[in-house]
Amino acid sequence: MAVGSGSVGSGAEGSGRFISFEGIDGSGKSTQARLLADALRAAGRQVVLTREPGGSPGADEIRRLVLEGPPDRWSPETEILLFTAARRDHLEKTIRPALARGDTVICDRFADSTRMYQGLRRGPEGADLRAMVDDLHQRMIGVEPDLTFLIDIDADTGLSRAVARNTVEQRFEDMGRDLQARMRAGFLDLAKAAPKRIAVIDGQGSPEAVAAAVLTRALAHLGQTAGPQA
Ligand code: ADP
Ligand code: TYD
Repeated sequence: MAVGSGSVGSGAEGSGRFISFEGIDGSGKSTQARLLADALRAAGRQVVLTREPGGSPGADEIRRLVLEGPPDRWSPETEILLFTAARRDHLEKTIRPALARGDTVICDRFADSTRMYQGLRRGPEGADLRAMVDDLHQRMIGVEPDLTFLIDIDADTGLSRAVARNTVEQRFEDMGRDLQARMRAGFLDLAKAAPKRIAVIDGQGSPEAVAAAVLTRALAHLGQTAGPQA
């Protein structure tokens, strides 16, 4: 885990690696996070597979607050606070302890999702809220994953996959094609700005083809940064 300024640091950093998956709804992140966890476990690694919002009992309670109910239930600013509160609890209760044990943590969404989903929203002054997201992140979270997979897919494909899934957690999935397209472009901009951390993977192929590309990149990263576990 890469520690930025303002680390939450409650315990010693272990040797574990922290990998996140990002992308628009329906891009295949959850599928790929699961397939990577399976492959790394088969290779003998201890893996904690987790997701945001959620990943700890407290954060799962916040998940219900933010994902269920009418779309205008929370202001964008309140959403930033809720997602960041959930992330802080997840980090304290699940991610840091796992990394301290030396486990590999695979997380379906992390702070890049807040940078996009809340950061692209407009505040009362008309400017987007990205600076507010970054400020709170630095104060309250202060860490980035070691490696992030951006599963890149066009907005129409993502939307049709997400809609076909049809869950009760619809607050964000109802946002429509234009926003999905802006979100995709925003994620690609993030990847350009952080090319060492964020690997862009084409999500259009079969799940197996995408998984093979992800695994190759993950093994290259893990091989460079941590010895294989017994
Ligand atoms: P996300 O977590 O990004 O929203 P999911 O992994 O839940 O995406 O996938 C969304 C839907 O698309 C699921 O029904 C899943 O089975 C399907 N799916 C995932 N990956 C692919 C793929 N590469 N090709 C076709 N369908 C896929
Ligand atoms: P998730 O359950 O991962 O949905 P999906 O499988 O469709 O990606 O995430 C639920 C929603 O929460 C998703 O639409 C994105 C949104 N979200 C934010 O708006 N901000 C955040 O910080 C996070 C982590 C998620």
